[in-house]
Parts: sequence; C-alpha cells; structure tokens
Amino acid sequence: MRNLNSTDLLLSQIDKGLRALFVKSNSKATSSPADEVTTDTALTDEDKKLSARLMRVNHAGEIAAQGLYRGHSIMTKDESIKEKFTQSANEEQAHLEWCEKRLDELQDKPSMLAPVWYLGSMAIGAAVGAFGDKWSFGFVSETEKQVVKHLDKHLQRLPKDDIKSREILLKMREDEAMHDQKAQAAGAYELPQPAKTLMTAVSKIMTKTSYWI
Ligand SMILES: [Fe+2]
Ligand SMILES: [Fe+2]
Repeated sequence: MRNLNSTDLLLSQIDKGLRALFVKSNSKATSSPADEVTTDTALTDEDKKLSARLMRVNHAGEIAAQGLYRGHSIMTKDESIKEKFTQSANEEQAHLEWCEKRLDELQDKPSMLAPVWYLGSMAIGAAVGAFGDKWSFGFVSETEKQVVKHLDKHLQRLPKDDIKSREILLKMREDEAMHDQKAQAAGAYELPQPAKTLMTAVSKIMTKTSYWI
C-alpha cells in the first residue's frame, strides 16, 4: 500500500468537505436541541425572514469551521492532534446539520457562497497550521471566543418567539466555549492583536454577506 503524500491528503480533505456541503445530509433525521421545544409559536413573516437570515449566517459559520479544522488537520504531523481536529470537525458537523434543519423549517436556503466560505477557511487553517500546532490551537481558541461573542449578539437579535433557533444557538454557544477551553488545554498560543483584528474583519465579511445571500 502506498503512503499518502500531502497532495493526496489535501484532496481527500477537500473531498470530505465538499461532500459535507453538497451531498445533502439527511439533516431532518439529525436530533437537534430544537426538537425538545414542544411549544412552537407561529412566527410572523417578518420574524421568519429575520430568523432565517440569522440562521443562514450561523450555517455559513459552521461551514467555515469545517474548513478551518480540515485545514489544520492537513498540516499537522502529529497523528493524535490530527485525530483531535477531525473529532472537532465532526462535532461542528452536528451544528451544521441543526442550522440546516432549522433553515429548512424556516423555508430558506443556506448561503450560495458556501463553497467560498469552506475553501477560504480551509486555506486559512492550512496557512496557520504551517506555523505549527500551537498556533493552530491558538487560532481555534480565538475563533471560538469570537464565535461565542457573535452568538451572544444573535441571541439578542433573534425574534423572541423563535424558541427553536434560540435553543440551537444556546447549545452551540456552550459547545464553542468548550472547544475554546480544549484548544487552550492543548497548549494554544495567544495570537498577536493584529491577527485577532484581521480575523474579526474577515468574519464580518462572511457574516454580512451570508445574511443576504
Ligand atoms: Fe460550531
Ligand atoms: Fe466550535
């Protein structure tokens, strides 16, 4: 059996990611925190539209998370760390499916630019990973901190009657905070301030764009 070289690994990661994006998952079958909400208040058309836009942004964020983790996992030489990144990507896959299912219920669609968010994030993940695993963990830690802040804003913006989306975001917030802690426990380096500012700027482009398309 021949050993896989880095091009094989890269292609296999892109393949996995694109499958996650385009082979329609059976997200209806995935159990979601929203399933526990039994009192589903009917939303006004306006509330529905706002919720769908916010959930499309969160769905795009989860696509980006897939890309980042896959990008980091391509670059690490340490098998146990590779395993950690893959496991995290799998956990983020559940978030992706919850958002997709909710978007479906709100009769709306994921961002048309999903492949751009995925491939762009994967490139960023791989570029950071080239500096070493502790920078990758530093990047994960900072990303998750920013995601928690972003989710807090969305929890305030969500229509108050949209309890299902709220339950999803609350559970995601809990998981993202845990991903930050895990990255810190793995020896994450603290990123320099200009890198953090750049990350905020890049994520703003994604969140503002995917709100609309
Ligand atoms: Fe997530
Ligand atoms: Fe996360």
